[in-house]
Amino acid sequence: MKNFFIISAIVVASFLYFQNEESLKYKFENDFLIGATINQEDYQIVDEDAKAIKIVQKDFNAVTPENSMKWMHIHPEFNEFTFSNADKIVDFAKENEMYLLGHTLVWHNQVPDYIYNIKDKSTFQDHIEKHINTVVKRYQGKVDMWDVVNEALNDDGSLRKTVFLDMLGENYIEQAFSLANNADPNVALAYNDYNLYKPKKRKGAIRIINSLKDKGIRVDAVGIQAHWDLHFPSIKEIEQTIEELAATGVDVMITELDITVIPNPYELAGIAREEFKKFEGDRKWDPYQDGIPDDIQEKLTKRYKDIFELFVKHNDKISRVTFWGINDKYTWRNDNPINNRTDYPLLFDREYKEKPAYEALINLNN
Ligand code: XIL
Repeated sequence: MKNFFIISAIVVASFLYFQNEESLKYKFENDFLIGATINQEDYQIVDEDAKAIKIVQKDFNAVTPENSMKWMHIHPEFNEFTFSNADKIVDFAKENEMYLLGHTLVWHNQVPDYIYNIKDKSTFQDHIEKHINTVVKRYQGKVDMWDVVNEALNDDGSLRKTVFLDMLGENYIEQAFSLANNADPNVALAYNDYNLYKPKKRKGAIRIINSLKDKGIRVDAVGIQAHWDLHFPSIKEIEQTIEELAATGVDVMITELDITVIPNPYELAGIAREEFKKFEGDRKWDPYQDGIPDDIQEKLTKRYKDIFELFVKHNDKISRVTFWGINDKYTWRNDNPINNRTDYPLLFDREYKEKPAYEALINLNN
């Protein structure tokens, strides 16, 4: 009997300990899901980067595969699918009872070259159908939501010229959503894009959502990528973006949040990557190689605080906020838009330690 009481006390004490442990997912549990990405490239799930995985388990309740479900990785040849890395992330998410985002079905980037060699339209059409069916059905009941179409818009709101637009015409977006819905009628379906704070591009996204709805095609959410910097977009612009997108009636999700602190010669404009090549290795555009200065750290902390105060204010519209990465060491920002720089966009530093911005979020009034 005495043992029973001792064991019960230990169980209750550890339960209370873990409940009280500082954690983003508990902090925002009444506001929105809070997510991170897991990458396959040389680390994390593949090499089992234990420190990164521990952070994800402690602080996050939603996961996005940073690369593993993209066409070139999951469907690298016409007749070949490779699921092993995606499967590992799916298993991890399910073991840890996390919300899982499937990223992404139709996107012009990170597609294998063979796609461009399909010249016959009906073969192309059949192939997209096969891709969406195979991938969506494999993860039926495991993936909670798919980014069905990613980055279909130019900054002026017109449709981006992609291999999908070329081969299938404007209604490729409808086709993709219908195919995904047919493959799994229960999984949520989203349109995802960046620079939606720009009014013309936002109008384009609203046009896509409304036109899907008018045609009776299911769309459940819109993803605001949120690859932002210390100054742009303004809190007012972000607020307007959230409000206008939510007014379409779909869920709003912040899907790829990171705040770059190093300068960009072209600000956030959608400039082609090749244009940045000439800045590689130039210290002027990579000023914090030896560490982040205190004033920049403070600005980053304030920026995250302001942004999250806004997200909390709109917690009735926002159902998930996902960071694009886990810590600064492996962020894609170190290589985008200029290769091989030292950026500091996330809440955990290169030593996997919580940054002041993390503390600011934990101490927020929500
Ligand atoms: C990025 C990944 O983070 C990189 O590792 C990869 O090399 C390129 O793609 N918008 C998206 C994401 O929707 O899939 C991109 O991810 C970042 C921009």
